[in-house]
Parts: sequence; structure tokens; C-alpha cells
Amino acid sequence: MTGSRAPACDVLVRLVTCGSVDDGKSTLIGRLLYDAGAVPEDQLLALGDDPDLSRLVDGLSAEREQGITIDVAYRYFDLGDRRFILADAPGHEQYTRNMVTAASGADVAVVLIDARNGILTQTRRHSRLLALMGVRRLVLAVNKMDLVDWSPDRFDEIRADFRGFAAELGLDDVTAIPISARHGVNIATRSDQAAWYQGPTLMDWLRAIRLDAAATGPLRMMVQGTIRPHADFRGAAAWIADGEVRPGQAVHILPSGVAATVDRIVTRDGDLETAGRHQAVTLTLIPDVDVSRGDLIVAADRQPGVADQFEAHLVWMSYRPLLPGRSYWLKLGTTTLPAQVSDIRHRINVDTGEHQAARTLELNDIGYCVVAVTTPIAFEPYMTSRSLGGFILIDRMTEETVGAGMITRALHRSANVRPQALHVSRDQRAALKRQKPMVLWFTGLSGAGKSTIANRVEQALLDQGLHTVLLDGDNLRHGLNRDLGFTDADRVENIRRVTEVARLMTEAGLIVLVSFISPFRAERQMARERMAPGEFIEIFVDVPLAVAEQRDTKGLYAKARAGQLPHFTGIDSPYEAPESPDLHIDTTTCSPEAASSRILALVQSRQDG
Ligand code: ADX
Repeated sequence: MTGSRAPACDVLVRLVTCGSVDDGKSTLIGRLLYDAGAVPEDQLLALGDDPDLSRLVDGLSAEREQGITIDVAYRYFDLGDRRFILADAPGHEQYTRNMVTAASGADVAVVLIDARNGILTQTRRHSRLLALMGVRRLVLAVNKMDLVDWSPDRFDEIRADFRGFAAELGLDDVTAIPISARHGVNIATRSDQAAWYQGPTLMDWLRAIRLDAAATGPLRMMVQGTIRPHADFRGAAAWIADGEVRPGQAVHILPSGVAATVDRIVTRDGDLETAGRHQAVTLTLIPDVDVSRGDLIVAADRQPGVADQFEAHLVWMSYRPLLPGRSYWLKLGTTTLPAQVSDIRHRINVDTGEHQAARTLELNDIGYCVVAVTTPIAFEPYMTSRSLGGFILIDRMTEETVGAGMITRALHRSANVRPQALHVSRDQRAALKRQKPMVLWFTGLSGAGKSTIANRVEQALLDQGLHTVLLDGDNLRHGLNRDLGFTDADRVENIRRVTEVARLMTEAGLIVLVSFISPFRAERQMARERMAPGEFIEIFVDVPLAVAEQRDTKGLYAKARAGQLPHFTGIDSPYEAPESPDLHIDTTTCSPEAASSRILALVQSRQDG
């Protein structure tokens, strides 16, 4: 039997290995593959007579560990009617995100330790991550038993130590096995040296583990899209995350909450009487209600929660730190929508479990956070359902996956805080002023000329009898935003607040001029999305850094260069220039008068339009 053989397996078991190369992890994996007959003939021959099995694995890993991308190696082997997918994360301590990736889909884990060292900090870290990722069943492989003379006392001591600690984490399904990966003891075969050990070998254990695959909860289907081959047929294509579906069953569509009954379960090979977990099918519903990608179809009698805020553990996976208040894409099942981390309750020290105060999360940090989404979604706690409780966060600009989240509970603040109906509308307020509300958003380096131009424009608008307000960064930082500095996180919050203020001012029917450096594209984009369509005008007040620095009207560039002003935009804090602003004004060639004429012309056309 070789690794390339087609599977004849009914059961798929996903396994994650935790430990470091020093613990003998590569040797163990090599041994497992070897004993399972999953090493191709040519590789076996290349290894020679007394094979160092770690070589089957190490060559790849060293290279992978250099990389900065998430890197988990997947290997396959069969035991009887079971096919195993083994996810192996590089052993470097700092690679939390790799282990999280490897563990996120795993049913069971092998935690490897060196019998000489016993439980180390890294063992605690691995176990804590397994608990976080919902891997509840594990085997503690106590390796290098030959180097402690197969001492049963040493084994018992380690097992007791580990059980105590694991129980605190809620990991109570732990089997400890004394092994020697190097000599192949208690992997597939036993040895007289360890005759005192009566328990299963690692392979016995793998063959016998109970799996939850059969266990089903209430129906949870994730809608992937609508299928409409012709005018008379409309079906919802959906994947069954959990439970069973039958014709006649009462369901609800979430998040809308619309009720319906399942009519048919349609497949290419005819209709089904029932469909179960992890099957993808097409349903028709009575009545033929609207269903779209991202919706959930759930059992009417047992429904998951719907909310727009929840608490979650968040593992940060990007070199660029989390910025609370920034809008990220949140992807949960088939739903993708904008989301913000609105609060970091604490950061968790993965070595000790200790809770620490934090304002941001860096690569490999784990935080307990409040996440807010723009519209309510349906979900379940991660410990109930990985499919409905696990999500990722994606940077909206780079499309990089920056975080992995595990939902713990819904926050029902929003359910208790309902929007109040207002009697006077924004249109009425604006009509009274005989104008259309809009936001003129000036962005650019300090000293580019934003305030000068904004002041002129406002004066001209006032002269035309229009109602305006000017929000200036320096001014707001003396009041509303007095508590904020110039770190990336503070700037994100600075812009979030001024965006909300500007929005309220448009509600009042005003023409709002915002003059902030606003260095990040993501926040300017968010500001645009918060306003009514067409109301947001981005004006890039552009000047080369050298020119701004030469002007240095406030003397701040000199201070920044002298190291007296950290995080200064353009010096040691980035400015992300707009890619397609509504107006681009180069103040090296365009005078303030000319700039304001251009802006006024644009305002005029929008007012008339
Ligand atoms: S923003 O980046 O968060 O949008 P904001 O427009 O509110 O900045 O404030 C910028 C003003 O603060 C500048 O015009 C300058 O006068 C002052 N300032 C003080 N320290 C800094 C700094 N480190 N970086 C940029 N501007 C600073």
C-alpha cells in the first residue's frame, strides 16, 4: 500500500500533531507514515537500511518555516477503513497562527512530549490552543521513553501532571501512551521493554477513536446561492452544516426570520427523501420565499441566535496589527459582511492563560473581543458548531486573511436599543435650507493646505447662502477627540468619530467640510460607505512630502525629524494616498483660489444634479 493509492475509506479522520522537532515530531510522523505503509517505494529505497524517518518530513519543514505565509503541511495515510489527514504545523513557538489553522479542522490531536522534559511551556501552549480550537480528544504521546529506561514511574508522573492541567482547560478525553518514535515502540507494534504498558498503541488508538460525525444537531443549512434554470423552478443551493432535512419540514430563513416548509430536495440524480450532514443539495420551499447567499435555513423549532454584536476569541494572523474600529470583511460560512472589533476585553497569554489589557493584537496574539457587524447575522457558539461559530477577518484593501475568530456568545445590546422613528426627516431639514447635504472630505499630509482651502470653500458657500460646518482635525482633537494620539489605532478611532459626526451633520441637512489628514484608505472608504450614495466627495490635497516639510508652517516636521514627535505622518507614520479621489488638487501648482473654484464648481454641479 502506498500513499498514492486511491482511498477505499469510509471514514475521514482529521488529526493534528503538536510538538517540536526536538520532541521527535518529525520522527513520529515519519514513523506513522512508514508503519501505515504510506511511504512510496522510491522514497523508502532512498532512505536505506536503517532509515532516519524524520528525513521524510524535515526536508520540507525547514523550508516552510522560513516563509511568512500560513503554512500547514497535510499528509495522508490509511488504517483499515479510515483515512487520516494529518495536519502538521511548524514547531516554532511563535507560530500560533499555523497551529490554529492546523487545529481548526481537526477531530483529534496528538500532543507529543519528550519524556526527559515532561510538560513544558510549549505543551501548555499547544493544549490551550487545542482547547480554544475545539479539539477535545487527544492523545499524549510521551516520546523518547527509551531515554528514561522505559520508567513506568516517569510515565505515570507525566500523565498525572498533564491530566491535571488539561482538565482545567476542559480537555478531559486524554489518553497517554509511552512511545519511542525512533525505535517504533507502541506506534504500530509493542516491545518487551514496555511490557508493563497495557493500553493501546498509537495505531490502535487511531483505529478506535470515536468520532462525532454521526451525531447530529438541529438542521443548519448554509445557502450558497439560488438556482433558477428556467422560469418555473427556483431552488436554494445549500450545504448542510448540521442535522437532517426532509420534505415537509418546517424551517426558518435567517437572518430575516421568514418561515417556510421544505417542498423537495432536488439533486441531479432525482429527489431525495432526506439529506444529512455535509451534503450539498438544492431545496424548493413553500411558499417560494426569497433566499440568497449567506442566509441560513434552520429547523423552525430550534433556531440559532441572530445578533449584530458578539464576543469572540480572535487569533491575529497578520504582521499588520489589529486596528479596533477599522472595517474588515467578516466571513462566516457563506456570509461576508463588514465588521469591526469594537472592544478588546483582554489579550490571553497563551503560555500561562493570564488575561492582559490590550489596545491592539499583534501577529500570533489571542484576544477576547467584541465584534460588531453592520447587519444582524445568525450564528452559534463555536463550541456548539464550528461551521456556524467560526469566522475569519479579511483586510478589505489587501484581501489578506488577518484573523480567525471563535464566537462565544451574542451581545443583545442592539436588540434592547431600537432605532426611534423620527418625525422630521433629513430631506425636510435639507429642504428648509434649500440645499442637498454633502460631505467634502479633505485628505492630505500635514501642511498640504487642507485647512486653507477648506476655509475658503466654506466662506464661499456661506456667501452663497448655504449652510455649512467645518470639522478640522486640530480643533476636534481639542474636544471630542482629546483622548486620542497619533498611533494607527488612535487615528482609526479619530476618523471613525469624525465620520459619525459628519453623518449626523448631514442628517441636519448641512454641507460638511472635513479637514483631517485621514491617512488610511480603509477609513476613508468606511466614511464614504457611512454616507448616503453620492454624498461623499473625497478631495485629495496633494503635496510632495519635501514641499510640506519645507513649508513646515507649524514647525512640526522639524520636531519630527529631530525625533521629538513620534508617529508623524510622512516621516514615521504612513500616508496612503487616494487612488481615485473625486478631486485631485496639487497645491504645488494650484493656488488656494484655483483649488476652491474647482471644488465650488463640483459642489454646484452636485447641488444642481
Ligand atoms: S489624523 O491622521 O488622525 O487624521 P488629524 O488630522 O486629526 O490627524 O490631526 C493632524 C494634525 O495634528 C496635524 O495637522 C498636526 O498639526 C497635528 N499633529 C501632531 N502630531 C502629529 C503627528 N504625529 N502626525 C500628524 N499630525 C500631527
